[in-house]
Amino acid sequence: MKRFEDKVIFLTGAATGIGEATAKRMASEGASLYIVDVAEEELENTAEACRHLGAEVTARICDVANEEDVSNSIKETINLFGRVNVVANIAGIQTWHHTSDHPTSDFERTLAVNLTGTFLVCREAIPYLLQTQGSIVNVSSTTALAGIPYSAAYAASKAGVLALTKSLAVEYAKKGLQVNCVNPGGIKTAMTRMPPIDDIDMDLLLRQNPLSSFVAPDAVAGLIAYLASDEGRHVNGEHVRIDGAALA
Ligand SMILES: NC(=O)c1ccc[n+]([C@@H]2O[C@H](COP(=O)([O-])OP(=O)(O)OC[C@H]3O[C@@H](n4cnc5c(N)ncnc54)[C@H](O)[C@@H]3O)[C@@H](O)[C@H]2O)c1
Repeated sequence: MKRFEDKVIFLTGAATGIGEATAKRMASEGASLYIVDVAEEELENTAEACRHLGAEVTARICDVANEEDVSNSIKETINLFGRVNVVANIAGIQTWHHTSDHPTSDFERTLAVNLTGTFLVCREAIPYLLQTQGSIVNVSSTTALAGIPYSAAYAASKAGVLALTKSLAVEYAKKGLQVNCVNPGGIKTAMTRMPPIDDIDMDLLLRQNPLSSFVAPDAVAGLIAYLASDEGRHVNGEHVRIDGAALA
């Protein structure tokens, strides 16, 4: 299946995990890619893998929380490829604290990367996405839908991503833009390692574990690709859980 032939994809968080898997999935389906991340070596590995799959790829270091980085990256995408059809906001960080000890700086950085970063990419890309009647897929989380202990900043940021997604969908649907988010849980990536903090209540922590098993990030890549493809076109302003029935 080649659903992304002639499509230009701007994708954040491409170095590892869900972003890496999604970049490869879209490359294998004919996309041209502009991929960004802050992890240089892993990003270049993803770019090489995508080139081997036949994709034209530009990879750049870009901190999504940095307004200038984001603006420059979107402008360069347009300069190089002439358009952008799909934006996938996948970059994210997770921080773990007992909330009574949560440093403000860490709270703010988590929101800056996960929520402000997603907003900045959307804002800069929307004028160009309106020209292509394009699609945005943001990555929220099951933590936006049900409480998680020790990760309040992360959960708040992901709930913000969900609200941002729906607001943009309503604001721009009549102009032909599609905006959805996915809410993963229990995906095997660096992010789902044991939290590096003491005094953890495991029962609370496991509340959002899948009833089946943890799965590889390719599962989320497939969902993002569906939403971003013409097949998923009528799904708009939706959030889609992909969590092995954790929150069913
Ligand atoms: N793994 C899960 O179960 C799960 C569940 C829900 C949501 N998510 C979300 O999926 C997305 C991908 O996470 P993952 O699980 O693949 O983990 P991951 O750590 O492998 O991937 C996150 C990527 O984002 C990049 N990144 C971090 N800060 C950045 C910044 N400021 N600018 C640009 N890139 C930056 C990292 O370098 C990394 O490549 C995240 O938004 C995460 O919150 C993951």
